[in-house]
Amino acid sequence: MITWSPEFETGVPEVDHDHQVLVENLNRLETALQQRAGAEHINGMVAFLERYAQQHFTREEGCMSRLHCPVAAANKIAHIKFMQTCAEARKKLESPTAASGVAIKIHSEMCAWIRDHILKIDLNLRQCVKPH
Ligand SMILES: [Fe+2]
Repeated sequence: MITWSPEFETGVPEVDHDHQVLVENLNRLETALQQRAGAEHINGMVAFLERYAQQHFTREEGCMSRLHCPVAAANKIAHIKFMQTCAEARKKLESPTAASGVAIKIHSEMCAWIRDHILKIDLNLRQCVKPH
């Protein structure tokens, strides 16, 4: 489980809200995996996460370019790579011969990525937000 904490806050409300929704849904997926929910349910949750991540990335990229964030270009590249990884993962997951551990592995990789990405890239937004 990822516990949301102020260390993840960028100071941009729309970005922080999106990140919280992603974390909540990753935690929901973890619970479903622990409860051994059916493949259809799990795959639906992964598909939702992928879709929401894409929508969030578009919003966040717009925000970084508006605020002239120095990591805006690096952020876009990281997002493209993540979506490619997601597409590959979903192919594995939806294959009829998918091993039972595939979803668990995808979930833990997504958790590690989001934590690392928020801390190393997205938090650069802090320096761009004017104090109010
Ligand atoms: Fe990002």
